[in-house]
Parts: sequence; C-alpha cells; structure tokens
Amino acid sequence: MSQPDEAQIQRAAQRLRQGGLVAFPTETVYGLGALATDAQAVASVFTCKGRPSDNPLIVHISARREVAQVARHVPAAAQALMDAFWPGPLTLVLPRQPHIPDGVTAGLDTVALRMPDHPVALRLIAAAGPLVAPSANRSGGPSPTTAQHVRDDLGAAVMVLDGGPCRIGLESTVVDVSQGELRVLRPGHLTAAELAQVAGLPLAAGAARAHPSQSAPASPGMKYRHYAPQATVDWLRGSAAPAQLPPDTMALVVTDIDVRGANVVRLKDTRELAQQLYGRFREADELGLRRVLVEEPPQGEPLAEALRNRIQKAITRR
Ligand code: TXA
Ligand code: MG
Repeated sequence: MSQPDEAQIQRAAQRLRQGGLVAFPTETVYGLGALATDAQAVASVFTCKGRPSDNPLIVHISARREVAQVARHVPAAAQALMDAFWPGPLTLVLPRQPHIPDGVTAGLDTVALRMPDHPVALRLIAAAGPLVAPSANRSGGPSPTTAQHVRDDLGAAVMVLDGGPCRIGLESTVVDVSQGELRVLRPGHLTAAELAQVAGLPLAAGAARAHPSQSAPASPGMKYRHYAPQATVDWLRGSAAPAQLPPDTMALVVTDIDVRGANVVRLKDTRELAQQLYGRFREADELGLRRVLVEEPPQGEPLAEALRNRIQKAITRR
C-alpha cells in the first residue's frame, strides 16, 4: 500500500487551514479531521457525520509541546501515561484551555486529547495544526477502517488520505485521571489495568459503562447508538449456537467452535477480530444479510473488553 506523498499532505493541510474537512488514517480507525481552533469547521464536522452536538470531539496532536495549547493543566499521572503510550491509542480527558471552541468540548470544562500512532496522521497534524477527528463515518454506524469505508459513508465531498487498513480497528481507550483514580470512559486496546499501573493510580470502580441501561454515562458519546450495521447483531454463544447457520446469517468466530454455513468467518484471534469487526459488519450489509452472530471474545484475550463493549452496543443499537 503506497502512502500519501508530501504533495498530498500539503494539499490536505491547506484544505484544513481553509476550513475544510479531511479524512485521514490512524492506528485505530479513520478520523474526520478539522482544525480544532476553527469553530465553523468544527461545526461542519457534526453536520457531515449527522452527529449529536452534545457529543464532544477528541483533539489530535503530533507533538508533546502542543499539549499546553489545548490543556490548561496536566496531572503527573497523565504525563506518565503520555510518556508510556503516546503516540498510541490512548485519549486523555484534561482541563481545557479557554480558547478551545465550545463545539469541540460540547461546553464541558474538559477536553479529550490524543497523539495517534500513524505516520500520515502525524505528518498531517504537523503541517496543519491540532485537529479534531471523530471516526469518519455516519453517526451511529460502524467506524471506518479503510479509505473506501469513508467514501462509502461520506461521499466524494470529503477528501480522504488513504493509508491502507487500520492496524487496530477499534477506537482509542478514553481515560480520565482528574479525580485521583483512573477511570476508563471507553475501553480500547490499552487495558484499564496496564494504564492504572503506569499512572500509579487505583482503578475507579465500575467506570466503563458497557451497557447503555446503566445511567449517567461518564463519556457523553457512550449513550448514543453506535457501531451498528443494518443487520441485527447478536452473540454466538457456545452450546446455544446452531451448527448449521441459515444463509442470511454471518458468523464471526475466534475459537474452533462447530458452526458451518456460507458466511462463517474464522478469525485467527481477538486481534484479527478487532481489526476486521467493522469491515465485516459493512460486508454483511453489502451482502444483504439479516444477522451477524459474533462469538464472545474469551476473557483476558487482547482487546476482549473493547470488543465486548462495541459488540454489545451494536446489539442494543443504542
Ligand atoms: O481512536 C479514536 O479515538 C478515533 C480516531 C479517529 O482517533 N476517534 C474517535 O472519536 O473515536 P469519536 O468522536 O468517535 O469518539 C470520541 C469519544 C466519544 O465517546 C466522546 O464522548 C468522548 O470521546 N469524549 C470526547 N471529549 C470528551 C470529554 N471532554 N469528556 C469525556 N469524554 C469525551
Ligand atoms: Mg465514533
């Protein structure tokens, strides 16, 4: 996969500086970028995605010195996490600088910040400045993990830098360390336990709310319908699994469980399931299938908690 050249990066940066939108690859999913300091461009991100305006955005930076432009104060625990995991799939919620547009933070006093681990993202941000970047999909559907997914969702109006398929395939871990404990607001590739250890903080009890029936979501975005294809999603669970699947059903399987059918997809492990999950949801819709059954990721496997969170949300469609 050839990566965008310098001329393409410069064209994209110019479009961003003029208030336009540019989709770009990260290690997690593709982001829909706009200049974080341009309130009008930020507003157009919400329109383009059909995103509820009370769901705040993540600001993406390319260098540690940019942190101070966005965050008013960085606790020692957050510094330690940045040292250990940036660039990488970790988003920190920090007190905001006053000049950050309200549209970015949905009026909150905090701002979410991350440094993505992808050369194209880093080059684009270095050329244009800090960027807000929600996943570059229509709000509610599966996040895009290829440039084609972005084009399918947002059409030709949005410029897309094609960096090939995303390496991780699920969105970053979002954490808050402002209360003297580590709260995971959205689970991801980096687990609560490894983050708490590096931060030197205790884990907050029951912080991530994987199930939408629990009240008061800690991260505003977690209350909305997310990640769901048109097809119905459900768990494929051991003994309850039909050995022979109907032709209108896809199964995503990580163990050697006995299921057969035209649309059984056997993944090597939970990493491969994460990397392909959203693309397989999209494929099910393209094939006109009615159901996608996903095997529960075995406890303790890489990305198991993040997978359970996204799949459960696709099942409940909220
Ligand atoms: O991996 C990712 O994080 C991707 C790539 C493109 O970087 N981006 C992404 O953005 O997933 P988005 O907008 O789809 O999700 C942002 C999440 C939402 O759940 C939102 O509610 C939460 O971060 N968030 C943003 N600002 C926040 C804040 N100040 N406090 C709490 N949660 C916040
Ligand atoms: Mg999203």
